[in-house]
Amino acid sequence: MNERETLKINAAGHLEIGGADCVSLAERFHTPLYVFDEAHIRTMMRVLRRTFEEEYGGRGLVLYASKAFSCKAIYAIAQAEGIGADVVSGGELYTAMQAGFPPEKIFLHGNNKLPSEISYALDCKVGCIVLDALSEADLVEAEAARRGVVQNVLIRVNPGVEAHTHAYIQTATTDSKFGFSVADGSARRMTETVLRLPHLRLLGYHCHIGSQIFEKEAFVLAAQKLLAFVAEIKRSIGFEAQALNLGGGFGIWYAEGDAKLRPQDYRGYLSALIAAVKRECARLSLRPPFLFVEPGRCIVGEAGITLYTVGTIKEIPNVRSYLAVDGGMFENPRYCLYQAKYSAVLANRANEPATELYAVAGKCCESGDLLGVNFNLPKAKRGDLLAVFSTGAYNYSMASNYNRNLVPPAVLVRDGRAEYIVRPQTYEDLVRNDVLPNFTDR
Ligand code: LLP
Repeated sequence: MNERETLKINAAGHLEIGGADCVSLAERFHTPLYVFDEAHIRTMMRVLRRTFEEEYGGRGLVLYASKAFSCKAIYAIAQAEGIGADVVSGGELYTAMQAGFPPEKIFLHGNNKLPSEISYALDCKVGCIVLDALSEADLVEAEAARRGVVQNVLIRVNPGVEAHTHAYIQTATTDSKFGFSVADGSARRMTETVLRLPHLRLLGYHCHIGSQIFEKEAFVLAAQKLLAFVAEIKRSIGFEAQALNLGGGFGIWYAEGDAKLRPQDYRGYLSALIAAVKRECARLSLRPPFLFVEPGRCIVGEAGITLYTVGTIKEIPNVRSYLAVDGGMFENPRYCLYQAKYSAVLANRANEPATELYAVAGKCCESGDLLGVNFNLPKAKRGDLLAVFSTGAYNYSMASNYNRNLVPPAVLVRDGRAEYIVRPQTYEDLVRNDVLPNFTDR
């Protein structure tokens, strides 16, 4: 396993990622640019996969939550590392299929899967569909019956544990668009319904309690609640779940205040879950189920950085200094959406002391278009190269063409080599689907 540091500063004082000098990357691929370190991604996948192998007799499968970063290359890497993938739309499924990903290792999620997506998933022969609504069970049943197949399914349940970044709460009934509540009996009623449908094979249950969570206890509590529910269903209707999917959500480092874990430290999260499952199964006389987890952020988040060229700098005395870059909310909307924190360095002068405080602004026509307001950096000037850390998850995947800016390309770096995994968009791409209607006078 490659334990090399993802990021370091080289002799020239430049930031390096995966052995590649960021200044050279920016010269070759231009900015803004998403850069991913392949070794980091593979190490994360491997650490989690091996934990199942070594601590649970291989009776578990890691599913990469591809909403965090979906493109053909990431599915190819996941496949090579022997893990599965979770997809939440026809588009993610299509991308995985185009990458040649084994469909039996694909789980389809979503609170409102379109009939066309369900039909496509059955055409692809996905391994499992996670049911999120009563009407969805009927749709999957009909599609499976039409094909004369039996489709594996899980039921998404709401175990009454909700985790937020630095806290978790237990709730009796949860106000969520996702899943069936354990507390109000709807998860049990859904179980009875699904068991009656001849073309559905109910493997068990799924839950996901939140994202960017550091507390192992929150995951453990959710597993305990899920197993208590499994035991109750076994006792009352005689169905014993053979598989549980405990979702994703492991937290990553973004900025000061976040725990900084090494890839191998994530083993601890899975170990705690596995231990809790074994303990609860023994206590409740259940057969330990096959386990799935579906982390996204921790696999790709810290593996990725974004490189920008510094443009205008506006110093407003006694107010703040704005440093504008060639990106913005169109390629990283997370500060705008969640006030997400990030940290950064000037990649071309990474050794220099950070003496200034900047608000980093994007180039969109909107005052709120910021990447954050608290970046400690050396005094910056036009042409400097800004590297923002931990942008590998939910940046590219949430990018848009707002203001008709181009979604930046992504490159994968490995031992100093770099190649596109997502090529640059062009202006022609922007107008590719535009049509001038015939009835409009010109
Ligand atoms: N499984 C399910 C059912 C999920 O809903 C999610 C994330 C995951 C797995 C993966 O969670 P992760 O390991 O990546 O935390 N756009 C937001 C994050 C939304 C997460 C949605 N669900 C952000 O940028 O922070």
